[in-house]
Amino acid sequence: MSNNYRTTFQQAANHPTAFWADAAQHIHWDKPWQQVLDDSNKPFYRWFTGGELNTCYNAVDRHVEQGRGEQAAVIYDSPVTGVKTTYSYKQLLDQVSRLAGVLHDLGVFQGDRVIIYMPMVPEAIFAMLACARIGAIHSVVFGGFAAKELATRIDDAKPKAILSASCGIEVAKVIPYKPLLDQAIAIATHQPRHCLILQRPQATAGLQPGRDVDWVTAMESAMPSPCVPVAATDPLYILYTSGTTGQPKGVVRDNGGHAVAMQWSMQNIYDIKPGEVFWAASDVGWVVGHSYICYAPLINGSTTLIYEGKPVGTPDAGAFWRVIAEHKVKTLFTAPTAFRAIRKEDPEAALLHQHDLSHFKALFLAGERCDPDTLEWAQQQLQVPVIDHWWQTETGWAIAANCLGIEAFPVKPGSPTKAVPGYKVQVVDSKGQEVAAGEMGNIVIKLPLPPGTLPTLWQDDERFVASYLSAFEGYYLTGDAGYKDEDDYLYIMSRIDDVINVAGHRLSTGAMEEVLAAHEAVAECAVLGVNCALKGEVPLGLVVTKDGTDISQADLSYELIQAVRQKIGPVAAFKQVAVVKRLPKTRSGKILRGTIRAMANGTEHTIPATIDDPEILKEIGQAIAVLGYPQG
Ligand code: COA
Ligand code: AMP
Repeated sequence: MSNNYRTTFQQAANHPTAFWADAAQHIHWDKPWQQVLDDSNKPFYRWFTGGELNTCYNAVDRHVEQGRGEQAAVIYDSPVTGVKTTYSYKQLLDQVSRLAGVLHDLGVFQGDRVIIYMPMVPEAIFAMLACARIGAIHSVVFGGFAAKELATRIDDAKPKAILSASCGIEVAKVIPYKPLLDQAIAIATHQPRHCLILQRPQATAGLQPGRDVDWVTAMESAMPSPCVPVAATDPLYILYTSGTTGQPKGVVRDNGGHAVAMQWSMQNIYDIKPGEVFWAASDVGWVVGHSYICYAPLINGSTTLIYEGKPVGTPDAGAFWRVIAEHKVKTLFTAPTAFRAIRKEDPEAALLHQHDLSHFKALFLAGERCDPDTLEWAQQQLQVPVIDHWWQTETGWAIAANCLGIEAFPVKPGSPTKAVPGYKVQVVDSKGQEVAAGEMGNIVIKLPLPPGTLPTLWQDDERFVASYLSAFEGYYLTGDAGYKDEDDYLYIMSRIDDVINVAGHRLSTGAMEEVLAAHEAVAECAVLGVNCALKGEVPLGLVVTKDGTDISQADLSYELIQAVRQKIGPVAAFKQVAVVKRLPKTRSGKILRGTIRAMANGTEHTIPATIDDPEILKEIGQAIAVLGYPQG
């Protein structure tokens, strides 16, 4: 493979089968594939059909067999508990193979689903790998989601078992997970046979006899289970992500294409070699955690870092620098929000200078748009390349990046640089025509998508096609809008749907609206993402009450905020509600979300000619001014 971006890009674009067959040589296959790209059932494409492999074998066993047994595989650094542990590849193999044995003892076999609802502890990674080892399909649910969200995922994935912990720790707050899990199972129609519970000393949980099993006790008597070869096209995991409604989308990841893409990206995008330390400061509940805390660094024979803490407050804004220095991290991957939080507390980065960061070579940012100001601050303080890169749960790895392992381009703040080899990205107008450089449009990717991207949604081919493939035939709709400049640099400016990004966490305003609308006093509502200096975006709710309702505005706001917390979770950061008399609409009844958003953001906007009553905007302006927003 050439080490020049242009030739690598062209090879992947013009000869995808040769390109990806070559990349697949770095993966151990139990049975070779018959076809690199199977396009016999368009628009459903499959990679490496006929091939068999085991993802866990590629991430763990083969490194032990090839002499990396004593090398650090997983470093766990938890400022919230004061624990630091390192697991070598050999120790990782022991943990994972015995946990796979526990899963068998619980009746979990190939093709069964397992939900993992855990905090940032190494057992979360062991759980993912143990599922992969026996061919079970895991679905990790982020700990900050409420019981109802967990229940929705239980009913969709129908897991045989759920793996969880007694609690998570958010800075100094202990969050008991088990009551949330019990509540979710009580709400769900589907009932798992067993729950495997990791008891943590900060809060032990009551176990339900017959159903709940103690993690440590089960591990003591478990026999190690070997790797089961699975089809390259078999699902490795399902990861639910927010769409436009309250029903999340179950993004499916296959085994073969995923393993190939993970290995390729580690070397070509992040420039990480086996034995080097890579830290993705995210959470196993998000796609970043799946790809770059768990699978990619391990498949690559590198060392991964699990950090149970925050960028600030655990104990201070120097936490990231301490971890980088102490564990000789070569590359950090996090969301811009984390850097905004650090900068807010330590604007001169005084704490950074207390640490030796000589091993540190690059910072990658993703999960939300990276404002140029934050990027430039990070560049100035760290004096290493700061790379904004763009991707989604659906793709599983970067669509656009500055590929450090191929050829580093000059950084243009505000741009995640260029399309990664394998992705043919275009910006099109509403009719699907490519627009000129500098012009905004829908960002689409020409099919087929490269290996590792979603083959479909869990048991919902129809929604997969409707959500992503039907807007423009032959193209995948990313849901993002933006433009390309004359040098082919991409700029990702906003979503075209109801998805917002709060502190790098993807959430649906539609789902929040469903919660507000369910309140007995609410006649109508709208939730929109408005700018936030720390979290990028936060949700703002506008509600109209039913006639004759006598609840005070303060009580209604409080109840709605609590309802979103309980039904979606604290991670939604839903804290602002304005009660208004009416919502501004077009004459055809469409709520003018863009106009309200612009008013709240204090950005320029014109009053649309189609508005049914311009006076309403004045009232909205007054209502949001009370919350501290400009009146527009
Ligand atoms: N389990 C339970 N609760 C959780 C949780 C988890 N795993 N993660 C977050 N929460 C809760 C928090 O405790 C908080 O609750 P509160 O409203 O009671 O205070 C709420 O969800 C919002 O959390 P968060 O978004 O983390 O906000 P914060 O104010 O606590 O911290 C930052 C702000 C910027 C420090 C934090 O968002 C951060 O570190 N962001 C990095 C971004 C990131 O990792 N993104 C992942 C994609 S790459
Ligand atoms: P998620 O599926 O949670 O990873 O969120 C994906 C969405 O986050 C994308 O569709 C974008 O809207 C946004 N996003 C992720 N990375 C970037 C980035 N580097 N620049 C702009 N937006 C981003």
